[in-house]
Amino acid sequence: MTGTEAPAAPPADPDIEAALLAAAAAARLHAHAPYSGFAVGAALRDESGALHAGCNVENASYPEGSCAETGAIAAMVAAGGRRITHILVLADAPAPVPPCGGCRQRIAEFATADTLVLMAGPEGVRRRTTIGALLPSAFSSARHLDLGEEGGESGA
Ligand code: THU
Repeated sequence: MTGTEAPAAPPADPDIEAALLAAAAAARLHAHAPYSGFAVGAALRDESGALHAGCNVENASYPEGSCAETGAIAAMVAAGGRRITHILVLADAPAPVPPCGGCRQRIAEFATADTLVLMAGPEGVRRRTTIGALLPSAFSSARHLDLGEEGGESGA
């Protein structure tokens, strides 16, 4: 894929990045990852500016585990948020950790193509991109399901 990736997204507002990083770090401390040993925290900002965080929650029945992004999205929806403006993923790995394929689709449900995706390590934000770059041609209710006004409208 080298040479075909979309250009990096510009830095988000430094205060927003710092707040997302702090929220993701706090949630990551609570990760339940006894099987992989790989703790992940995620934090997102919704359309009202509120932050919501999550961590990965693994399960002895391995496929039943959930990603940190999934937890953050569930927290946003439960609090009444419906639009992700920024989402940050925090993990300690040699390379920046992007949302997995399933989480890209979950993010796209509540995103527009320009929703910022920030990948962070212990030292801070390592990579900035957008959900549109990570999941081009996403399956979306607006474009692929005939739901009229009821459906979501992800442009990712
Ligand atoms: N994981 C996340 O929570 N988010 C990601 O973006 C990548 C992977 C979790 C799932 C599993 O609990 C662990 O990391 C190892 O795959």
